[in-house]
Amino acid sequence: MPKTEPGGDLPLSIVVVGASGDLAQRKIYPALFALFCQGLLPANFQVFGMARSAMDQPGFRTKIEQNLTCRYVPGVSCAEFEAAFLKRCHYLAGQYSSTDSFLDLFQFMRMVEGEGPVNRLFYMAVPPTIFLEAANALGNSGLVACGSSREWSRIVVEKPFGRDRASSDGLVREMHKVFTEESTYRIDHYLGKEIVQNLMVLRFANLVFEPIWNRQFIERVSIIWKEPQGVGQRGGYFDGFGIVRDVMQNHLLQILALLAMERPARFDAQAVRDEKVRLLRCVPPLALANVATGQYGPSESGKQRAYVEEPTVPSDSLASTYAAAVLEIDNPRWKGVPFFLGAGKALDSQVNEVRIRFRPVENDIFAASSGMLQANEMVIRIQPDEAIELKIMNKVPGLNMALQHTELDLHYKAAFDTLIPDAYECLLMDVIEGDRSLFIRADELAAAWNVFSPVLNEIETQKVVPMRYPFSCSGPENALGLARKWGFSGADMM
Ligand code: BG6
Repeated sequence: MPKTEPGGDLPLSIVVVGASGDLAQRKIYPALFALFCQGLLPANFQVFGMARSAMDQPGFRTKIEQNLTCRYVPGVSCAEFEAAFLKRCHYLAGQYSSTDSFLDLFQFMRMVEGEGPVNRLFYMAVPPTIFLEAANALGNSGLVACGSSREWSRIVVEKPFGRDRASSDGLVREMHKVFTEESTYRIDHYLGKEIVQNLMVLRFANLVFEPIWNRQFIERVSIIWKEPQGVGQRGGYFDGFGIVRDVMQNHLLQILALLAMERPARFDAQAVRDEKVRLLRCVPPLALANVATGQYGPSESGKQRAYVEEPTVPSDSLASTYAAAVLEIDNPRWKGVPFFLGAGKALDSQVNEVRIRFRPVENDIFAASSGMLQANEMVIRIQPDEAIELKIMNKVPGLNMALQHTELDLHYKAAFDTLIPDAYECLLMDVIEGDRSLFIRADELAAAWNVFSPVLNEIETQKVVPMRYPFSCSGPENALGLARKWGFSGADMM
């Protein structure tokens, strides 16, 4: 999508607000470094970090260096690239809600940048409870150029955007006072993942799938997300949001939208997002009867602690660390096809995959000689070990007519001799190039909240108690019950 734009040749300043936090350290600097190593950042770029803690320039650079990896420039050149990158990283301590702090930052930036117009990318890597005040202070400081000049200012905001439809609408309105919708990049990093980007290609660049991509041929779809870790040090943030807001309302719903939307008129930011919005508006609000929630307890060995024993989690917390939900899509393509979404922390494995179960073949002519036919299934594994598998019935070689469910598989590692970029590399590149296709538009955000807000409200006002499940198990029993009610099997949830 757009690769050149007015002002694309200007110097670039990347301002990381929340510069010492986990997200900045683990994702943002390594992704910027990876772009730098590949020559994908403008020749004249600088990185400015701002956070509350006092830190000098060498301290800041050492902190960044700890997480840099030389995937793209291994060997001797690595040290050179690191040194050249770190030289462009600068730090200033400040208060997020203080206009004066941003004015100081502005002065500091001007000293480093010198004269002349500069594009600015502000990355709000701060907790959601703070980013509005930080954006306001930033706006008041006059650092933001959202006008018609050649230079641009863009803001990247991390999810979750609000806690429900009303708070999200409020945030969108307030943020628009500082940044226009066109300058706002609401990030959902799953949209930057290689296989998630491939969903549209798979569907719309191949003839074989689209004709069967509907209720006539597809019986059910499951989208599963499992993480083996608990919330660890993030309990303070997580407890205020829970797994539905942390993963399901954004990452999983975005995957669903890309899987189920109609073909966009064009491959551009507006047309793609228009189709996602149209699809999301066909998903009725989730009913409490179609949700199962869980919270992890200690592991059976006693080595892993329960969620309520995590630091900064209240001991009587009712937050869900697991949720399963069955969504329907009220349109001619999907009516009657259940979409099972399951997301949980502290489970038995790390996996994020989509399973598309096709309807069984009618009039099985092989039944007498070979036993039961199994229905086709497509598995799209987003992570780890990216792959697309299609399970088909196949004759086992030999003199008998024996049939077997066999996989046609595309394993990325075997098929592509290339590094798979981290999602943040791809998304940061898009922000710099002004391509908003993989970012969440305000109307899309509203449509996503419409699906989940009512049920979240019900769960919270009724103080629904999540079912306890042991750390490292495959998921709570109530999720399996919900899945079975809708015709899914345990295998759909693996
Ligand atoms: C984040 C969630 O958006 O995604 C985390 O807040 C989760 O809770 C993380 O662990 C998972 O991301 P990834 O890219 O490691 O799958």
